[in-house]
Amino acid sequence: MATQTTIPPPILSTTSPADIASTCETFALSREEFDNLQRSAKEAKSHSYSPYSKFRVGAALLTQTNLIITGANVENASYPVTTCAERTALCKAVTTVHPNSISWASKTLKFKAIAVATDISPPASPCGMCRQAIREFCSVEIPIIMFDGENGYAVLRLKELLPLSFGPEALGKEDLGRRGDS
Ligand code: THU
Repeated sequence: MATQTTIPPPILSTTSPADIASTCETFALSREEFDNLQRSAKEAKSHSYSPYSKFRVGAALLTQTNLIITGANVENASYPVTTCAERTALCKAVTTVHPNSISWASKTLKFKAIAVATDISPPASPCGMCRQAIREFCSVEIPIIMFDGENGYAVLRLKELLPLSFGPEALGKEDLGRRGDS
């Protein structure tokens, strides 16, 4: 039987205008949106509560209306109680009513891109639980930009990180999981 190999994404550089321009074009982001995602995810990392692992993670969600919502990992002495940065950000976003009546309940909150920042190279990607949590609230097309602790980054769509995924439409909720699809 043929073995399946996963090709790792190329590591791009935040100091290369050509890399950033190509990312922005591929994922329909402006340079300003890319810069905001990078700055916000890295800044969010500084709020990580990670006394046990000392592994800091910051996440930033960009909404279709250009809001940024951030989160960081929050650990617990009872280790499984830990919440990852991505899920902290998602829970904040979904449970907060943002300016101009943008809220999950009113169906006006839609996400355009996600950034995750860590201190390691190559950059870390979201854990399986976070991929599934993202799947609940985002299109499978959403780009996930993974920044390392230096100048590197990689970007993949959710459908590449979580192929053949299970989502709300399997339970008859077509309007939920793929919200944000254009
Ligand atoms: N972590 C995240 O915040 N996001 C992920 O997607 C992977 C792991 C956190 C959880 C824990 O606080 C630390 O990283 C080490 O696992």
